Amino acid sequence: MSSASAPGKIILFGEHAVVYGRPALAVPVTQVHADVEVLDASEDGIWIEAPDIDLHAELKSLPSGHPLAVVINKLFPHPGPSPCGAEAPCFARRGVNIKITSTIPVASGLGSGAAVSVALTRALSLHLGRPMTNEQVNAIAYETEKIHHGTPSGIDNTVITYARPVFFIKGRPIETFKVGRPFTIVIGDTGIQAPTREAVADVRRLWEADRPKWERVFDEIGGIAGKAKEKIEAGESEALGELMNRNHTLLQELTVSSPELDGLVEAARKAGAAGAKMSGGGRGGNMIALVRPEAAETVAGCLKDAGAKRTIITLVS
Ligand code: PMV
Repeated sequence: MSSASAPGKIILFGEHAVVYGRPALAVPVTQVHADVEVLDASEDGIWIEAPDIDLHAELKSLPSGHPLAVVINKLFPHPGPSPCGAEAPCFARRGVNIKITSTIPVASGLGSGAAVSVALTRALSLHLGRPMTNEQVNAIAYETEKIHHGTPSGIDNTVITYARPVFFIKGRPIETFKVGRPFTIVIGDTGIQAPTREAVADVRRLWEADRPKWERVFDEIGGIAGKAKEKIEAGESEALGELMNRNHTLLQELTVSSPELDGLVEAARKAGAAGAKMSGGGRGGNMIALVRPEAAETVAGCLKDAGAKRTIITLVS
């Protein structure tokens, strides 16, 4: 058996503007993860079992554009007759069961799709005795992000592949950053599944209608992400609260927040968070709040009272 895991992620600053070349900051969230096991099977073929999405199917029954099929077919292309003497790869002839489980809520900004792709790629490549580099894993996960997101920046697959805090600029080499002094954030989930693809497409429509206006907004968001990186590296995390609040306002202007997200952001601030903002694609999914460690449980409780379906307290370190 071969197995691999990948963490969830949360975007601290810079979502949406990152699609337009501005920097964004994201960190892994290890409290949630996707896990993949690959086992030799007695039956022929590649069988996939993913109880969280109610899927039990043979690979060949999935549409070729299905994200799981895309990953598997990338690892096992069909260039022609294989040494097994058939079109299918030896691997498939032997028969395998792939079991995928995940504690990462789907379509909520915690990177569930990218985490499954990363864990699946690693588990399959190990099973074949051809472990891949992070760069190769990241490239495959990016392909599947295109299916989930349309025009993804690549931030989700990058932070999840490297499992390190990432200062991300689309198309640039991976840049991780150091956390000068660990700080605590509370993540609050609206419980509303919102496809990132739609929010990203709506922002694109706004931008196309008035590019100078939205370029200025993207510039300001990118500036906030840059400043946040400096503060985090300097161990001055208390300065992040105000930056989160301003970033949230700009995301509201971009129309990607929602009454539920705004309600949780407001509740966190009232409960004593130093700042709060929505995180990820928006319209639903998660928000984050910067808290003193001793206030984390209180803020999480207030988020629950304000309607959060779940909360995660995580230390960024
Ligand atoms: O919804 P999430 O957390 O997967 O975040 C998407 C982040 C966006 O900036 C909105 C899109 C992207 O591809 O970067």
